[in-house]
Amino acid sequence: MKLFAIAVLAGILFGCNTQNKKSYSDIQNVSDLAMAETQEHPGKKLMENNCYACHNPKTSEESMIAPPMIAVKMRYISEETSKEEFISSMVEWAKKPSEENSKMPGAVKKYGLMPYQFFPEETIHQIADYIYESEIETPEWFEEHYNSMHGDRPMMKGKMGRGKGMGMNNPQIETDKRPSFEERGMMIAQTTKAELGKNLMGQIQKNGVIAALDFCHIQALPITDSMATIHKAYIKRVTDKPRNSKNKANAAELQYLENFKKQVAAGVEVKPITVQMGNETEFYYPIVTNSMCLKCHGTPGKELETLTLAKIKELYPTDKATGYNENEVRGIWSIKFEK
Ligand code: HEC
Ligand code: HEC
Repeated sequence: MKLFAIAVLAGILFGCNTQNKKSYSDIQNVSDLAMAETQEHPGKKLMENNCYACHNPKTSEESMIAPPMIAVKMRYISEETSKEEFISSMVEWAKKPSEENSKMPGAVKKYGLMPYQFFPEETIHQIADYIYESEIETPEWFEEHYNSMHGDRPMMKGKMGRGKGMGMNNPQIETDKRPSFEERGMMIAQTTKAELGKNLMGQIQKNGVIAALDFCHIQALPITDSMATIHKAYIKRVTDKPRNSKNKANAAELQYLENFKKQVAAGVEVKPITVQMGNETEFYYPIVTNSMCLKCHGTPGKELETLTLAKIKELYPTDKATGYNENEVRGIWSIKFEK
């Protein structure tokens, strides 16, 4: 059984490669190349931007705060599942994550329920289309884990191997291309968000909201700073309504923030802003609330419990960061890096 799985997996990995080489050398001229580059499925980037803060295949097994997307895909797609069915089940889930609707009760138990966050329906549609059609990345640790958990089923079967052809999922072209400034900024924001989120969700689950508060109080800035060192960048989370006054947005940042607020309120897919200043790139992207955030940033007496509020006031006497609802701009990433 295991041999079979490995053989199929190898077939996918290497099979994909040769196919890509062929299509790459088929490219005749510059305009073909430009076309091939823009052929990347739009769902890929949307998934990376919206889902990988938690479902990232690059995270180590111990640090995962949600199952990797491949695990979700395997649970949601069987031999019989059509693309339409898959897309609508993803759209349904994203609209209302709940224990009753879960197809992955084990994951709910292990990681806690996925926090609700608003996504435009078209975004989920594109993401689901991409996941269904493509070979999405599998973490190195996953196959071993999967085989030990589900030894009775081969890992890669049926539609798992889909996604060849159509010019998508083309690592050959992708790795030849240097990431754009926008991609670099997004990567820095995502990995920092993932690091903060991992620690936050873990603390809430293990020790409750009050303990998590203490943890944020002490760790939020150091974690952000250590990510800044890793990325050789300058990383801030800033806001118009700061909890920690060190995180107050300056005039330019406030303008970007207001812009993002309008876009988020309109329910459109938000694009990051990049500004070129000589050798330096500035990158801005909104930080949007989900249901989990409201435990500490929600309305006092509602999601924000009295005891939590008292603790917040003790740590941050001038706190302004309450009264938020889901899907509101809590602040922005303000990131700078050099060429
Ligand atoms: C803040 C973290 C977070 C983000 C962001 C996130 N998820 Fe999740 N997701 C989770 C967690 C935790 C689980 C496992 C628990 C569960 O199933 O609710 C999960 C589970 C799922 C499941 C399986 C649901 C089930 O139980 O049947 C789907 C489908 C899913 N996510 C899709 C997405 C998509 C698509 C995106 C991006 C648009 C996304 N998630 C973004 C945390 C997140
Ligand atoms: C356990 C409580 C808790 C939860 C849950 C929480 N936060 Fe916070 N948040 C804090 C604390 C405490 C600070 C101040 C950290 C510091 O001193 O730098 C903070 C600061 C921030 C800041 C920096 C700006 C400021 O006001 O100082 C942003 C942005 C932010 N949180 C966004 C979020 C988002 C988005 C979520 C949900 C994904 C979230 N927070 C969930 C407690 C929490």
